[in-house]
Amino acid sequence: MISEELLNAKINEAKAYVTKKLQVTPELGIILGSGLGNLAELVQDPIVIPYQEIPHFPVSTVQGHSGKLITGTLSGRPVMVLQGRFHYYEGYEMHEVTFPVRLMQAMGIKGLLVTNAAGGINMEYEPGDLILIQDHINLMGSNPLRGANLSSLGPRFPDLSDSYNTGWRQKALALMGDMDLKPLQGVYAGVSGPSYETPAEIRYLRTIGADLVGMSTVPEVIVANHGGMKVLGISCVTNMAAGIQARKLSHAEVIETTQRVGETFVSFVQKLIQLLD
Ligand code: HPA
Repeated sequence: MISEELLNAKINEAKAYVTKKLQVTPELGIILGSGLGNLAELVQDPIVIPYQEIPHFPVSTVQGHSGKLITGTLSGRPVMVLQGRFHYYEGYEMHEVTFPVRLMQAMGIKGLLVTNAAGGINMEYEPGDLILIQDHINLMGSNPLRGANLSSLGPRFPDLSDSYNTGWRQKALALMGDMDLKPLQGVYAGVSGPSYETPAEIRYLRTIGADLVGMSTVPEVIVANHGGMKVLGISCVTNMAAGIQARKLSHAEVIETTQRVGETFVSFVQKLIQLLD
């Protein structure tokens, strides 16, 4: 845990550093999940800041996650893109995992698009599907808001009943229909990892109402909601979850699938961000 004063000071130093370099005022934050980083290359007039340059920014360690903050315009909108995220399983504290979201909040960003790679639990899904996150179940064993509440940043007991904004989801579903993508939504179970789940855990997750499982996103979405941001989440089903598919789960398969659907993902997101107001 970290004191309120210290976290605020760190956020302000990071903000001052990033603000100095900016040429646009970003309106929308985008967090790119494993293997989905290619979108960052389409940002126009990009200002690229490696994470290690930003004061107090953690540095990501996992293969397939390069760490850069990119600002510029995407489909005509000023954005801040995070290519590479911090996972709880890497050993970061929750306030580190969610630091980039606090930075976005401090910079006045009001909307967040989060993306991730996930295992499919719902049998209607197939690897390669893009699924809109409808809601989540936090099974990470922690909550990023634990500890003294930063009342300047949000309420002690934030409401999470529309954590993945309904209006934005409706727009995204309509777009999926227009693009001949299956307009599917699902509940994302966030687990700590890093081991994949056991088949018994997947049966349990299905029973409690999960359609997708992954090791990220939940902390960032909780903090974004705490900070009053609207959120939209997209999961790329990279594999069917443990016990469903015959082959073993591997990070290589996760990356392979995200690369296979990369183009679709990019054109979906490019169109989508024009709709998120
Ligand atoms: N489980 C957890 N996280 C994941 C998976 C999975 O099957 N696939 C991609 N991320």
